[in-house]
Amino acid sequence: MSDLISKKDTTATVGGGYSLHSKTDERKKAVRKNLLDLFRRRPLPDEHLLTNMGLYIRSSALAKIFFLDEMYRKILDIPGKIMIFGLWWGQDAIVMENLRAMHEPYNHARRLVGFDTFEGYPESSIGDADKRSDIIKGGGYAVSEDYCDYLNALAQYHEDENAMYNIKKMTFVKGDVTETVPRYFAENPETIVALAYFDLALYEPTKVCLEQVLKNCVKGSVIVFDELGDADYPGETAALKELAQLNQVQVRRSQILPDRSYWVI
Ligand SMILES: C[S@@+](CC[C@H](N)C(=O)[O-])C[C@H]1O[C@@H](n2cnc3c(N)ncnc32)[C@H](O)[C@@H]1O
Repeated sequence: MSDLISKKDTTATVGGGYSLHSKTDERKKAVRKNLLDLFRRRPLPDEHLLTNMGLYIRSSALAKIFFLDEMYRKILDIPGKIMIFGLWWGQDAIVMENLRAMHEPYNHARRLVGFDTFEGYPESSIGDADKRSDIIKGGGYAVSEDYCDYLNALAQYHEDENAMYNIKKMTFVKGDVTETVPRYFAENPETIVALAYFDLALYEPTKVCLEQVLKNCVKGSVIVFDELGDADYPGETAALKELAQLNQVQVRRSQILPDRSYWVI
């Protein structure tokens, strides 16, 4: 099971030209290629595809959605915003908006804010506490030009489809989080963080954002970590160790994705 749903397994194949993770064996690569071939020669018209995504979603990608649901359920009675640090193509944000629509369609106070450069990792953010690799490098996880505009349009569609479409609930902030996040909290002093999802994978930006988040949580807020204890991405763990005394905080692992963790404040 863990082989099916490891983080790298989830992220490796989607866009961006990343090579498959080394743990993915040759047999699995061939199986994946078969899925891509089947997808490309699908007989379904586009409008049917949109309501039959389950035909193509792999268990690892499905598990990621279930994991987001697992986290969302923990904040149903917690006030405040959902903040996502590290969006890539923004799927986590769109799924969260749809979970909001399912779980609390009439919570008019819930907002989601997502942060990313939309240009991948800034070279200046990669430091000694991080481990460079084919993925962790300047520009790693870059998306296409003007992608933030496309994501905004997609977010608008989902908001229009869901309850309370008249209230703008999702915002994306483009730029280096070491600048944009402190500025965001300064300009939006009413902000309470209900859920913060960390997937920056680097020490310095994680530390800057976590510092801000911790000042704006309530007891019960949930902080989600994508790479805690991961030897390939040591920066996230280093940032947490600096800002919290580990044996004093309640960090738990997900029941869906064994390598994801969360801290209930
Ligand atoms: C691992 S990816 C996020 C993947 C996403 N959570 C998902 O599962 O689809 C890490 C993201 O963090 C962003 N990032 C890393 N350092 C950043 C920084 N200093 N400022 C803004 N974004 C940053 C990268 O651009 C990249 O999109």
